[in-house]
Amino acid sequence: MWLSKFAVSFVPAQLTSSYWLPEPNSTFAPEVDGLFMFIFWLSVFFFVLIVGLGTYFALKYRRVGTTEVVVPSSSHNTALEATWSLIPTALIFVIFGWGFVGFVDMRTPPENAYEVQVNAKKWAWNFTYPGGLQDSDLHLPVDQPTILTMTSDDVIHSLFIPAFRAKMDVVPGRYNKLWFHPTKTGENVLFCTEYCGREHSGMNRKVFVYEEGGVEKKLAEIQETMDKMDPAELGKITFTKSGCMQCHSIDGSKKVGPSFLGLFGTTHDITTGEKITVDENYIRESILEPMAKIAAGYNPQMPSYKGQLREKQIEGLIAYIKSLKNSSSK
Ligand code: CUA
Repeated sequence: MWLSKFAVSFVPAQLTSSYWLPEPNSTFAPEVDGLFMFIFWLSVFFFVLIVGLGTYFALKYRRVGTTEVVVPSSSHNTALEATWSLIPTALIFVIFGWGFVGFVDMRTPPENAYEVQVNAKKWAWNFTYPGGLQDSDLHLPVDQPTILTMTSDDVIHSLFIPAFRAKMDVVPGRYNKLWFHPTKTGENVLFCTEYCGREHSGMNRKVFVYEEGGVEKKLAEIQETMDKMDPAELGKITFTKSGCMQCHSIDGSKKVGPSFLGLFGTTHDITTGEKITVDENYIRESILEPMAKIAAGYNPQMPSYKGQLREKQIEGLIAYIKSLKNSSSK
């Protein structure tokens, strides 16, 4: 880390400015931006030099009405050729070294970091905090390193927090670790940056950074609000925050899964040829074991929410679906 900080200190402040980059809210940001701006201004310098000299020579030595053929007076120039080979080579080594130091830093999580388990699925994020509380947004302490231990239930997703300059694939069947050190309290955005299907673009959440003790306070608050809330209201919040809305509409339109509008109490053929009625038990089973009974005409692709929704939230979802009655009789 010290080496890249040392390298960044050579770059004038105005050149490392994050004018057209996301807000720099982690310790990685100045390192990444410094290298980016170094490469950017280096490229600008050589672009102007080469295009400028090319234009100048093209104009200066243009053909002006003479038929005289100029015979070149020299075949090569060793000193000149060595110079234009060695300078770019040295610059490439500088860029490589600078980038490599940053890479090693990003791949070496510090000890005593705040640990959050991350689970990704089509198309929702779930974060489990020390103590077992869960939320679909990321809550973090400021001025302390955080490690995310990430895995996926289905396809490859990728977690990206632009303001932290932190990004890593979230792969099914393995745990990937991503770490960063937030330096500013406030709100940031988290994206999925690996195309993972139809609702990929909706797979984004908020990252909240708090003063010391703020995370625990916020999580306790979420828990308390959830306990007090009217079931249908909690169901509505769970519907938007836990990813249900990516695949289910509430206005009757068909998305990946059935719309929740007027769904409760309806009867459907399932793929085994039997019939089911959408009641409390069927909704509960569909949330925990979605592959058990698939309604005809739908692809079996809903992920299980076992262990990721609390009993209260499941009851809430049932109450919410029950409350979405069709006003026009069909
Ligand atoms: Cu998950 Cu894209």
